[in-house]
Amino acid sequence: MDVRVTAAILAAGSGVRFGGSTPKQLLPLAGKPMLQHSLEAFEAVGTIDAIVVITADHLIAAVADLAGAVSPKTTDVIAGGATRDASTRAALGIVPDPDGKILVHDAARPLIAPSTIAACVTALDRFDAVGVAVPSPDTLLEVVDDRVTGIPDRSRLWRAQTPQGFWVDVLRRAHAAAAADPDFVPTDDCGVVARYLTGATIGVVAGSPANIKVTYAEDIAVAEALWRRSRATEN
Ligand code: CTP
Ligand code: MG
Repeated sequence: MDVRVTAAILAAGSGVRFGGSTPKQLLPLAGKPMLQHSLEAFEAVGTIDAIVVITADHLIAAVADLAGAVSPKTTDVIAGGATRDASTRAALGIVPDPDGKILVHDAARPLIAPSTIAACVTALDRFDAVGVAVPSPDTLLEVVDDRVTGIPDRSRLWRAQTPQGFWVDVLRRAHAAAAADPDFVPTDDCGVVARYLTGATIGVVAGSPANIKVTYAEDIAVAEALWRRSRATEN
């Protein structure tokens, strides 16, 4: 039997860097709430069986309304935690099948392509974990205070995006270990596996530079321009 694949869409952040009173994941982007773009992308992938949305307590009703209207695969809308990793753990707490796969995605990346999601599901047959990433077009500097302390070889540096995919049991074991370490505040889930599950294999799935994360208010205009361009190439 096929393994069950759950998508966990993280939408429990408060968007401090974005600003404003409405959380960015519910603001309109190209005419629909940002979160809806991710819901539709995961809906479109045949190998995704279920979607769980993690959001802030006070947004559960609004998010459940949205998911009810546009995402029949959504089984649960639950409260997240104070940090991104706590929100991932909340998702892990309700995924029923320990032998299944889970894809963790940021609602703040509304331009994710269904083909990239599908590639993550497939790549997990070869790895313990996978992350979508793109090669870095810029040279990256390691900086301490105002000094450049290292210039790593750019050809080996990729920029991490989401989704990231895991065998459920792999991500559970990594997060259990991370939870016991109060000093580690991870910004992504592959980082949790890399740090706490020695020997785990993490594959890379080539993403698109268009799969940007909306972090600052000005990113909305960039995301809308990229959305229009992707529509123009589809049609
Ligand atoms: N996220 C979450 N739970 C948290 C923090 C973040 O589910 N406690 C989600 C966000 O909703 C977002 C994704 O993780 O979809 C990536 O986070 P980021 O872009 O940092 O969003 P925010 O945390 O909302 O923004 P900021 O860090 O500026 O406050
Ligand atoms: Mg954040």
